[in-house]
Amino acid sequence: MRWAHVALSACVVMLLSSIAWTVHGQSAAGEAGQPLPGITPADFERFRVGLDDFAEVETAEDGLGPAFNGASCAVCHSVPAIGGFGLVSEVRAGIRDASGFRPVRAIDGSDGDTLFQLFSTPNHTCQPTLPLEVNVVARRIPIPVFGAGLVEAIPDDAIEAQADPGDRDRDGISGRAALVRDLVTGQIRVGRFGWKAQHATLKAFSADAYRGEMGITNEILPTELAVGIADDKLRVCDPIPDPEDVPDPRTGLSALDNFEAFMKFLAPPPRDVSSGAVMEGERVFAAIGCATCHTPQFVTGPSANPLFDRRPVRLFSDLLLHDVGTGDGIGQEAAQPNEIRTPALWGLRFRGILLHDGSAATVDDAIARHAGEAEAARVRHERLSETQRAALRAFLLSL
Ligand code: HEC
Ligand code: HEC
Repeated sequence: MRWAHVALSACVVMLLSSIAWTVHGQSAAGEAGQPLPGITPADFERFRVGLDDFAEVETAEDGLGPAFNGASCAVCHSVPAIGGFGLVSEVRAGIRDASGFRPVRAIDGSDGDTLFQLFSTPNHTCQPTLPLEVNVVARRIPIPVFGAGLVEAIPDDAIEAQADPGDRDRDGISGRAALVRDLVTGQIRVGRFGWKAQHATLKAFSADAYRGEMGITNEILPTELAVGIADDKLRVCDPIPDPEDVPDPRTGLSALDNFEAFMKFLAPPPRDVSSGAVMEGERVFAAIGCATCHTPQFVTGPSANPLFDRRPVRLFSDLLLHDVGTGDGIGQEAAQPNEIRTPALWGLRFRGILLHDGSAATVDDAIARHAGEAEAARVRHERLSETQRAALRAFLLSL
């Protein structure tokens, strides 16, 4: 973070965001990217500073690299507004053998990670390469962070209450809560963010994304990840002392605090106008068993902040891990290689490409790929009339 540049970039982002909030304000898409309605002026200020940091382009002098996937969070999270979607996909890889899946070890001898960055700085001499023993490679697309503060405020036990690991009710669906160790507090929590439900909190996800996607070490993850980059190269490519993100001496806030505030106060994507077909589609969605995993609603726990106090969260996900036959082969935190967390369906109409690897171009393609625990729901979808299927599509694209 270069503090000298903050004032300038703050102006640019304020300008950009005010354009987004007014010019596009008329269209359905333009409403995405707003702060939660009812936000106090003090929280709005934190949101605004966070938005600025989320969009700030970092350079090697700020600690970007040695390898990275993007120079700002917004590079991958900006459609249809900052915080949203993007077409950049990241590479995950690891090793599968008789004992199961394991990541490639990191340079510091720790367990390593499955993320392999795409770019290096400077002169490409720190371009990561996949070690020869790697035999699993997968790609993942970004997940929008609209409404993420509400998702964070869902109590762990509300998610666990939906789980049915042994399929006791024998409906073929056996979701598991992802129990993960929170990087910030060390507590065991129910993970809910990421395709593998690998993090429970926005602060932990931010620390991981800042280091993983941008190569910027921070108070929570102070050592470069740099899987696949030799130690001697690392010293040349990234001479900046770790941790690279340090709190602003004036406010005491780090970039992680700012990312967290932006995402926490970012409103969910607004629903499109409802029609008769949309309502019929929502009925079909429940009737054929989609809503068993794509749970329409959670309610946040009690909170001193009215924005998060027992509020409905209409995300259409149970936030559990399932095997629907699309697993990417990567084991990560609590998730097995064959498991993916049910994605939220809110904001689906802004997405374009679907599934964790972006391999489905339409909602019908995405549904057709459901197997495993979602086999029965897919078969019921195949048996729908064309009118019912069109209604379901209208419903999904109203989200
Ligand atoms: C190179 C593209 C890229 C950049 C840069 C990037 N992200 Fe992401 N983001 C992704 C991808 C891909 C995922 C899904 C990752 C996964 O599950 O493994 C994701 C997922 C997330 C999620 C999970 C959302 C949810 O509801 O599950 C959060 C939060 C997030 N990113 C925040 C950030 C922050 C904060 C930054 C900047 C520090 C950032 N991202 C930078 C690509 C990116
Ligand atoms: C057993 C749980 C389960 C059931 C039942 C289920 N889904 Fe899914 N759904 C998932 C999971 C898990 C994924 C993520 C798969 C991936 O990305 O590889 C997913 C992905 C999707 C996606 C793509 C979302 C995105 O962000 O890319 C859509 C759309 C979708 N489901 C709609 C439906 C519909 C419609 C039905 C009913 C016919 C249905 N699902 C039934 C678990 C389920």
